[in-house]
Amino acid sequence: MGRKEINFSYSIYGDRKLLPAEDQLLMDQALTASAKAYAPYSNFKVGAAILTTDGRIVIGSNQENGAFPIGQCAERVALYSLVHQHGRIPIDTISIMVDNVHQKIPASPCGSCRQILVEYRTFQQKPIRLLLALASGGEVYEIDDVKDLLPFAFDGSFLGQ
Ligand code: THU
Repeated sequence: MGRKEINFSYSIYGDRKLLPAEDQLLMDQALTASAKAYAPYSNFKVGAAILTTDGRIVIGSNQENGAFPIGQCAERVALYSLVHQHGRIPIDTISIMVDNVHQKIPASPCGSCRQILVEYRTFQQKPIRLLLALASGGEVYEIDDVKDLLPFAFDGSFLGQ
């Protein structure tokens, strides 16, 4: 019998002001995006801001629907917007900002968004860094690579890609 272990580490900053100016700017953009969320059902507003490796920023927010499952997460709105504005260009960092009264810690992307972001990460063959934060302030979590959040990911390689 063999047994393997998968570990990953991430950084915690006590306050967003401890991050470089470029990261703070990206978080500001995610905050701006969250103001455009349409979240009357969950009252959970999310903003995502994507920084590409060539310095562009594209934002998105969650858009809900009375038929709950067809709502769209902020990360996906931002990602697909990026592709349509600029093409499938490489991503450096995604800032995800949530407006949440129920938890005092940043939220991390849902399972479906992890799968979608990992697909893009596999495509670009470079890490996608995440900055997770709360709109109300406090700690920022820095995840070096989105693929760390989805061990044993299913991807196109299983389909011969
Ligand atoms: N949501 C996001 O937009 N991103 C996440 O990472 C987590 C969840 C949205 C979906 C839904 O509109 C609301 O937050 C509550 O689940």
